[in-house]
Amino acid sequence: MALPVDRDEASAATDRPVTEAVFVPDTAGLAGHPRGLTTLFFTEMWERFSYYGMRAILILFMVASPAAGGLGFTTERAAAIYGLYTGSVYFTAIPGGWIADRLLGLRRAVLVGGILIALGHYCLAANVRPLFYAGLVFIVLGTGLLKPNISSIVGQLYTRDDPRRDAGFSLFYMGINLGALISPLVCGYLGQKVGWHWGFGAAGVGMTLGLVQYVLGKKRLGRAGELAEAPAGAGRQWALLAGAIAAASVLLYLVWPYRDWVMLVLTAVLFAWLLRTGARSTTERKRIGAIIVLFVFATLFWIGFEQAGSSLNLFADQYTRNVMFGWSFPSSWYQSVEPVFVVGFAPVFAWLWLRLGRHEPSSPAKFAYGLLLLGLGFLFVAVAAQLYARGQGKVSPWWLILLYLFHALGELSLSPVGLSTVTKLAPARIVGLMMGVWFLALSLGNFLAGHVAGMFEKMPLPRLFGAVFLTTTLSAVVLAVLTPPIKRLMAGVH
Ligand code: PHE
Repeated sequence: MALPVDRDEASAATDRPVTEAVFVPDTAGLAGHPRGLTTLFFTEMWERFSYYGMRAILILFMVASPAAGGLGFTTERAAAIYGLYTGSVYFTAIPGGWIADRLLGLRRAVLVGGILIALGHYCLAANVRPLFYAGLVFIVLGTGLLKPNISSIVGQLYTRDDPRRDAGFSLFYMGINLGALISPLVCGYLGQKVGWHWGFGAAGVGMTLGLVQYVLGKKRLGRAGELAEAPAGAGRQWALLAGAIAAASVLLYLVWPYRDWVMLVLTAVLFAWLLRTGARSTTERKRIGAIIVLFVFATLFWIGFEQAGSSLNLFADQYTRNVMFGWSFPSSWYQSVEPVFVVGFAPVFAWLWLRLGRHEPSSPAKFAYGLLLLGLGFLFVAVAAQLYARGQGKVSPWWLILLYLFHALGELSLSPVGLSTVTKLAPARIVGLMMGVWFLALSLGNFLAGHVAGMFEKMPLPRLFGAVFLTTTLSAVVLAVLTPPIKRLMAGVH
């Protein structure tokens, strides 16, 4: 492609962010927040509604026999696909952020992402085998465009030092969990009691409502998420993107059998690069080092936490007595339990951290508590599985409810803390990239979680869940021991 000479200079200039925030003071929205937050709150609520509603029935649909309308996959295969799907959904957040910054702008990235997601769910609802895989791919691509970028727009509603900023993100996290709470009730009921494709269809309808709401509410966003200027050299960047996608597809095909190792090696290379080239001073290098150590523990956390939609979902379906007041409820309803606790306890945690003041634990210590709580949760299900193995029949719903209570407390000690710690520790130049790294921990955790869930039929369950309990608890102890040196690495950030 022949480009005029001055194009090069123009594209070099795009090293500054093209999506600069322009602050419009606005207090007319939810709880004195900018009106744009209302739009983004509901868009993300419906997006998460579709994600978690579909996820609540995905593995159950894959293992159900064709006679029961399912795909009849073995549990091992279903868990592998599940892990690959949920891992990819967060992996694409990294290119998704880049495409928004360089090509589409945040707002359009969210719109295109939402359209792809809705399309994906409708493909699953069509109930035709080849469309099943196409549907998963659409959701993966769409979520990569929507999920990271909608959070960035939330950030742009406020100036950096707006006192409402953290509260705004907390409200936004409520929207996420509200969607996650309602959808298993709707999609789970339709999917398991009426027909799988009705459940998937309901997820698609949810995302569609979110899109309609987003388009109608666009005016409320003010200038947040708008491209400050047309991206320079866009033609060349699109060509670069197309080339990268083609190259990545060929590479993916070649390395497919070794994908786990490739993921781990790439992560290690990324870390080496961040430490050598990304950091420009000793302090920056130390802080990036702290993020990397926390990354490892966050990955361990997500491996256990993300059993919710796979092995724990299967446990609820096959080993738990799902009867309430004489009515047998769909097993996917347990997927709503954790978000209920998150919505209930999020304000308690916010209050607690403030209340503790000087005694508030450091971020690595909060991570260690998170891992400990997650591990304890698994102790309940390990005991329940042992009771079942002793021939006592299906176990009480309370075991899973207690597990999810502990998992919610664990999530609240780790997930929002990790997000804010990364933004504080990362050098401002590469904060977007470091956010991608944070999504990578979740992605890697989901990939590895698929392998753990794949053992569901191969290993006695008390041993499987017991092993997760032990590994997680042990890593909490290791992290507690490492907390003082990590705090030194953080060099003054808490
Ligand atoms: N429950 C969170 C959500 O769906 C999990 C998550 C945390 C996802 C951080 C992405 C990043 O949003």
